[in-house]
Amino acid sequence: MRALTVTPSRAGTAEVRELPDPRPAEGELLVEGLAVGVCGTDREIVSGVYGWAPPGRDHLVLGHESLGRVRSAPEGGGFAVGDLVVGVVRRPDPEPCGACARGEFDMCRNGRYTERGIKQLDGYGSQLWTVEPGYAVRLDPRLEHVGVLMEPATIVAKAWEQIERIGARAWFAPERVLVTGAGPIGLLAALLGVQRGLEVHVLDRVTGGPKPEVVKALGAEYHTAGVAEVAGRVQPDVVIEATGVSGVVFEATAETASYGIVCLTGVSSAGRRISVDIGAANREIVLENDVVVGSVNANLRHYALAADALAGADLDWLERLITRRVPLERFAEALTARPDDIKVVLTLT
Ligand code: BGC
Repeated sequence: MRALTVTPSRAGTAEVRELPDPRPAEGELLVEGLAVGVCGTDREIVSGVYGWAPPGRDHLVLGHESLGRVRSAPEGGGFAVGDLVVGVVRRPDPEPCGACARGEFDMCRNGRYTERGIKQLDGYGSQLWTVEPGYAVRLDPRLEHVGVLMEPATIVAKAWEQIERIGARAWFAPERVLVTGAGPIGLLAALLGVQRGLEVHVLDRVTGGPKPEVVKALGAEYHTAGVAEVAGRVQPDVVIEATGVSGVVFEATAETASYGIVCLTGVSSAGRRISVDIGAANREIVLENDVVVGSVNANLRHYALAADALAGADLDWLERLITRRVPLERFAEALTARPDDIKVVLTLT
């Protein structure tokens, strides 16, 4: 089978190579890979700044935003041949910490978790892959063309869950949400905001391309002014930050309504220094009972929430988020971001 591999920590090593077909272990599913989404994490791995190969070898099969079709499944395991499935990214650490032991591996405390396509486990960027049934999630067959958005949807399903749990520490009736960044995470966060009946604002710097229209089609408002200006005007109860850009992150935390909750989902590159008035930020956070919270990854509960959110969304709208589908052999094109991209997908069949 063909697979997209990379040697982590070495830039420019991504290649498509022929690997032996995987053999499912007892109880596992064998899945025909249909597509993998490309995200910032994949680009970081390919540029040599993130990612870990499985122990004892150099290369890692890339891809954690999966979509596949079950080719073989053990009897009575809950899956049937032909099922549309997504594989879960993270696995708990081998000697589980308290969180991993309770199924909350997205909250792993000791960092010894593993992740398919990212950390010590081969990913889903191959024509065939295997998965434990407990880490496979069946999708509504109608999601065949957009199911690859499932993994990023789990990230925002977790973010929303965290926001609601934090909000529930006192009276909480949010009305307005500001999402910074109209990439896949930002747009899916906006979708879940609309599904909650909130007034949704999305901020991005681009004025052209598909993003403004995609936001409007959701019934949300698109902004291109500075974060402080937009947030100052909107006074959001909730901010979901999905750019990871230092200045945006800081301003996003500064201008919320009282009892504001800012959820950070974007991974910034380190080393960019900005000058901030942390005293003023602290004063506002304290005097308004604000919360700034980071959120990464997703557990099985969030996969279930994401599957429901996608099944309840307008499929044509979801389809608009996938702006390029690139065959596996032309992976280099997919890995090079273009200004009008929202989600780029590698097709595996
Ligand atoms: C993935 C997460 C993962 C994180 C850190 C993200 O791109 O979506 O599942 O936990 O990278 O490795």
